[in-house]
Amino acid sequence: MPIRSILAGVGAYLPKRVVTNDELAQRLETSDTWIRERTGIRQRHIASPQETAAFMGTEAAKSALANAHAEPAEVEAIILATSTPDQAFPATALRVQAALGVTNGYGFDISAACAGFIYALSVADSLIRTGAARGALVIGSEVYSRILNWNDRGTCVLFGDGAGAVFLRAGKGRGTIDRGILTTHMHAQGTLGDILYVDGAVGQPEKSGHLVMRGQEVFRHAVIRLAEAVDEALAANGLTRRDVDWLVPHQANLRIIDAMGKRLGLPSERVVVTVDRHANTSAASVPLALAEAWTDGRIRHGDLVLMEALGGGLTWGSALVRM
Ligand code: COA
Repeated sequence: MPIRSILAGVGAYLPKRVVTNDELAQRLETSDTWIRERTGIRQRHIASPQETAAFMGTEAAKSALANAHAEPAEVEAIILATSTPDQAFPATALRVQAALGVTNGYGFDISAACAGFIYALSVADSLIRTGAARGALVIGSEVYSRILNWNDRGTCVLFGDGAGAVFLRAGKGRGTIDRGILTTHMHAQGTLGDILYVDGAVGQPEKSGHLVMRGQEVFRHAVIRLAEAVDEALAANGLTRRDVDWLVPHQANLRIIDAMGKRLGLPSERVVVTVDRHANTSAASVPLALAEAWTDGRIRHGDLVLMEALGGGLTWGSALVRM
């Protein structure tokens, strides 16, 4: 039987500090009602100076390894998706490797904004299928609070900090019934780079390094591209929407999430929603949502889970996984 990536464990970390919409409204011209009605967001977690992408990624990785009953020695690859790394280099993945006490294998970061976890999962799945790793940590870890313009009410209310992780183990499987990652799909359209971006980085120190977004345009592309991604994932596996047990979508806006749930014909209780409490945690949002629904027992072994995300780039994609 062919090699397949089994999702052996899932973990999460959220910063201790919670910031409500009302707290933001004390110093910005906004309101809890506006934010909730337009986005579904009620609150977000905001990192302390110590809670960096490496720190939170390490904590999420530890809980994913514990959930998989895996030892650090089993980790042969660490792929960490982030747009807010601790340093330009070494890769945040390698700070996590050191903190976990992993001394073998390799690791690197992936920059694909909010689709980063889907990209990282896709790359890790390829490494496992080709025998380049037998155990891989896939992490999404973000501190967007550090790159937000806190005076821009159109963007700063939308994001939060956090990390999520999964541990993949090489196993054997065939067809769509056996456990493991069935398919992943990655897409990008660089010509749309200017509708959602950060205006600076270490290579451009004179720029401010703040997130800039044309929200309505991003919204429009998200609804179209994610619908295509859902259809593509099902068609690639010869499945129909009735086969999907759970949708674990990127958590940017409740209206986009609802549109995808409707497209799949799923009742709302089969769509995992964390955007109300986490806001948009970019590359961390899908694994955070997966970890929540896995840990509280909603998602069970044997369930078919469809994950999708879209982010700055534009980047987007999907992963279909039998848990
Ligand atoms: N509080 C109060 N008013 C706000 C506000 C806030 N936090 N942010 C913007 N507004 C105002 C605007 O200034 C505008 O006022 P105007 O009509 O007087 O100019 C009005 O609300 C409407 O703004 P608009 O941007 O048209 O709102 P919207 O309905 O498109 O919702 C988003 C804005 C950002 C919530 C929505 O576009 C969105 O979710 N986009 C996609 C975001 C996304 O998915 N991003 C990440 C992908 S990874």
